[in-house]
Amino acid sequence: MVREKIVIIDFGSQFTQLIARKVRELGVYSEIINFKKVKNLTKNKFIKGIILSGGPLTVTNKKTAKLDTSIINLKIPILGICYGHQILSKNLGGKVKSSKKREFGRAVLKCTSKSTITKNFFKKKTNLVWMSHQDIVTKIPEGFKKIASSANSKFAIISNENKKYYGIQFHPEVSHTRNGKVLIKNFLFDVCKIKHLWNSKKQKEILISKLKKQTGNNKVICALSGGVDSSVVALLLQKAIKKNLTCIFINTGLLRKNEEKEVIKTFRKKFKIKLVYINASKLFLKKLRGISNPEKKRKIIGKLFIYLFEKYAKKIKKIKFLAQGTLYPDVIESKSVTGSPSSKIKSHHNVGGLPKKMKLSLIEPLRELFKDEVRKLGVQLSLSKAILHRHPFPGPGLAIRILGKVTKEKVEILKNADLIFMNELIKSNYYNKIWQAYAALLPVRTVGVMGDSRTYEYTCLLRAVTSEDGMTADFFNFNRTFLQKISNKIVNSVEGINRVVYDITSKPPGTIELE
Ligand code: XMP
Repeated sequence: MVREKIVIIDFGSQFTQLIARKVRELGVYSEIINFKKVKNLTKNKFIKGIILSGGPLTVTNKKTAKLDTSIINLKIPILGICYGHQILSKNLGGKVKSSKKREFGRAVLKCTSKSTITKNFFKKKTNLVWMSHQDIVTKIPEGFKKIASSANSKFAIISNENKKYYGIQFHPEVSHTRNGKVLIKNFLFDVCKIKHLWNSKKQKEILISKLKKQTGNNKVICALSGGVDSSVVALLLQKAIKKNLTCIFINTGLLRKNEEKEVIKTFRKKFKIKLVYINASKLFLKKLRGISNPEKKRKIIGKLFIYLFEKYAKKIKKIKFLAQGTLYPDVIESKSVTGSPSSKIKSHHNVGGLPKKMKLSLIEPLRELFKDEVRKLGVQLSLSKAILHRHPFPGPGLAIRILGKVTKEKVEILKNADLIFMNELIKSNYYNKIWQAYAALLPVRTVGVMGDSRTYEYTCLLRAVTSEDGMTADFFNFNRTFLQKISNKIVNSVEGINRVVYDITSKPPGTIELE
């Protein structure tokens, strides 16, 4: 059992989970606590260090400037990042001001002094880092020294080596900061002296034992889509509570072509899981009729899923829990995980799209994890490569890839185009190089010419992105011949489409899905 841990105090940053993820990648267990819940953090020999996250708050406001004194009283190493750096400085006697010169994006950092935390971090005393702040520390607390500065942050890294307190104005947890992980590594192993004991096998064991405790002797239904996330949840539950588990697979009619057959075969035959299949295609289409607003679509779908799960839970009787494969990016874009302040991008069907009142209690063992971490768990659970490396597919499915109103005719058109795209990606060995790819149907028709006749049909948009975790993404650079081939194939074989376009937007400013 892994006991030693790092506590991450979340002040509402979009990146808090990235900090946790970097800590896990370095082989260390961490727990995130919402800053509002940090009262009387008690001394515990297993807490080896504290990381204070960034956040949208400002230390210049008296109400949000106070750090709970129990954090300092623990007398263990502290690393403050961005807002965490400012609140730490302020509470130890330093000064923080709102600056006229904001720093967003890349900044050049210059090293002015040595520190344990910057070992192997700088290249020739400089480094490129990623900043996102308006406030700056203008006076450092007693006992601290300046380690590095940027053009607009004199105190971009500060340290008190005796007390083992460190403040960093930039974000070492994001990939745009060069060597950011090295800073975190130095903090964990050279400053906190924590042991390297965490891996996906331990994570699997902890998740199974938590699930056992959480569910007791109660019955659970698991929402299974056949993607890697819900498959991992189903297999974890099978190990934790086998006889009390029933998986439910809902065919929304908005799945990829023939997907339902594959899922049923895999889970009933290979994993011998109790699986109920519900074909609700007609119901989904009926409820979505005439709706073109993306958030409305998401909410309708979220509610329908829950309606169906609750309806079937009643049939099975005495079901208390609904388990689902919610991941961290679903949560952060719908709302903050720990309840700290952060802004909503879209309502993922399994989080923000859920109805307010639910009879079943939710179980979401992967809620704080990222896709690639879930894939590693999947390896521990013997999931097949085909499922492990399957591109993510959103719960609302083709409904959020048919822009505007969803109709049966459009679903059919899109299923056919998407199948061609997927098959060609696999044939051309592109599939595994891409994080996620799909075809979408735009709500515009354009004029074309085929043979000698005029056509007036829909436009198909192709999207393929590379990503590490779904939080940021870039478009995939296909060669021109491949794009030409796909465009040709789709227009020639899918009735209803006469034009194909390729989306070259990254995330941000776009998102991976179009709605
Ligand atoms: P976005 O579009 O927010 O997508 O950049 C990030 C990742 O999340 C998936 N996604 C969803 N998954 N329910 C899901 O299960 C949803 O409502 C949902 N919306 C987006 C998306 O496919 C991408 O992998």
